Amino acid sequence: MKIILVGFGVIGRGVAKVIDEKRKSLKEKYGFEPKIVAICDSSGAAIDENGLDLKKAIEIKEKTGKIVNYNGKKMSSVEVIENLDADVVVEATPTNIKTGEPAKTHILKAFENGKHVVTANKGPLALYFKELVESSEKHGVMFRYEASVGGAMPIINLAKETLAGNEIKSIKGILNGTTNYILTKMEKEKLDFNTVLKEAQELGIAETDPSQDIYGYDTAAKIVILANSIMGMNKTIDDVKIEGITRITPEALELANKSGYTIKLIGEVKKNKLVVEPRLVQLDSPLNVKGTLNVAMFNTDLAKEVVIVGRGAGATETASAILSDLINIHLKAKEK
Ligand code: HSE
Repeated sequence: MKIILVGFGVIGRGVAKVIDEKRKSLKEKYGFEPKIVAICDSSGAAIDENGLDLKKAIEIKEKTGKIVNYNGKKMSSVEVIENLDADVVVEATPTNIKTGEPAKTHILKAFENGKHVVTANKGPLALYFKELVESSEKHGVMFRYEASVGGAMPIINLAKETLAGNEIKSIKGILNGTTNYILTKMEKEKLDFNTVLKEAQELGIAETDPSQDIYGYDTAAKIVILANSIMGMNKTIDDVKIEGITRITPEALELANKSGYTIKLIGEVKKNKLVVEPRLVQLDSPLNVKGTLNVAMFNTDLAKEVVIVGRGAGATETASAILSDLINIHLKAKEK
C-alpha cells in the first residue's frame, strides 16, 4: 500500500513511527506492507516512490521543523495528492473547527483522484460529514476516521461493526482528554485552571488552539461525528448546545465531592439532541474516569449498556486507530 502522509506534527510523526516499528509484524500478520511515498507539511514535501526512510524523515522534521529539508520538494500537499501515485492519503494536519481546512480540501482532492482516506481530523468531519461521505461513495473509495473520536478508544468501529444489529439509542461520555486532565488535577491537587491547562499543553494532548478543548468545541465536534457516523444523523457543530469548563473551580469540585459526585465535561447525543456541558457524575459511576482518559457509554436495544474506556489523545494512541483503519482498508481491498 502506497501512502501519502499529509501533516507531520505529533500525529503524523506518530503514524510514521508506528509503521516503521511494526513493519515486520504487519507483514507477517496481515500481509500488509505500507510504504509512505510522500510526507507533506506546510514547508513542502519529501517524496520517494520506493518508500521514504521514516527514521530519517522524523529526525529531519524534529531537528529543522521542515520536511522539505529531506529531499527538497517545494510541492504543496494538494499537488502531491493530485500527482503522485498512491493508494491512501492519511490526513493529519491540525484540526480547524471553524473552516475544516486545509483538511477538507486534502480529503476531497484525494477522493477525486481515486485515493482512499484515513483521517484523525475532526474539523472537516464535524462541518461537512455528508459531503465527504457522499464524495467518497461517488468516487468508489474508502473513508475511515476512527482516530477522530476518542483516540485509541475504538468507538466508531465498535458501534458500527461489533455492535452491528443493535439500535444505538444514545451515546454519552468524556471525549476530551485535556478537560478531563484539568478537572482531575483541579479536584486532586486544588490547582487553578491556568496552571493545569499549561500542563495539559506540555503533555501534547491539548489542541494547537486549546480554547477548542476548554470551551467544549472539541467534544462537540466528536459528538457530531458520532451522531452522523453511528446514529445516521446529519448534524453539524452548530446543532450542538455547548458549554465548556471555564467556570468550574476547585471549590465547586470539592463541594460536589462532599455529596458523592464529581464534575465532568460530558458530551451526549440522543434523539436529535446534541449537548456538551459540565455535569455532576456520581463518584462510583463508570463515567468517572481520571486524567487524560476518555470514556463512552452506549445505550442500545439489545446489548443494553456498553461502556468503553481508553486513551483519547497522544501520538501513539492516535496512531493506533489510524493504523487499524489502514489495515482494514488493506484487508477490504484484498477481498475485492
Ligand atoms: N485535544 C484533544 C483532547 C485531542 O484533549 O482530547 C484528541 O482529540
